[in-house]
Amino acid sequence: MTYLVTDNCIKCKHMDCVEVCPVDCFYEGENFLVINPDECIDCGVCQPECPVDAIIPDNDSNTDIDKWHEINLKYSLIWPVITQKGVAPSDASEWDGVPNKYDNGLMSELPGKGT
Ligand code: SF4
Ligand code: F3S
Repeated sequence: MTYLVTDNCIKCKHMDCVEVCPVDCFYEGENFLVINPDECIDCGVCQPECPVDAIIPDNDSNTDIDKWHEINLKYSLIWPVITQKGVAPSDASEWDGVPNKYDNGLMSELPGKGT
């Protein structure tokens, strides 16, 4: 089992999650973060840290788990690791709750800086 970052992180990217992960398995894109599912130890401490509820366990029946597992794995192998919280986008609050951000092409494939 693993935890996964899902749609509502896109363009919100608060990064509170990265500071609590004991195994440093968050990876940073330009406007989104992912978890490496093979490195996550399923501790669950990151989930309540996300202010926009973007982190879910992979047994969440309300979410397309296969799709988000694939996205998290793919980009965790490309993007740099992030362990320290940076500055969230200034318009993050405007994107909280906007549906289907990934499907509407709003996730950047570009890497973040990593820390
Ligand atoms: Fe890290 Fe634990 Fe969250 Fe997995 S569940 S990403 S190990 S904090
Ligand atoms: Fe994204 Fe939430 Fe972490 S918005 S960066 S999953 S704290």
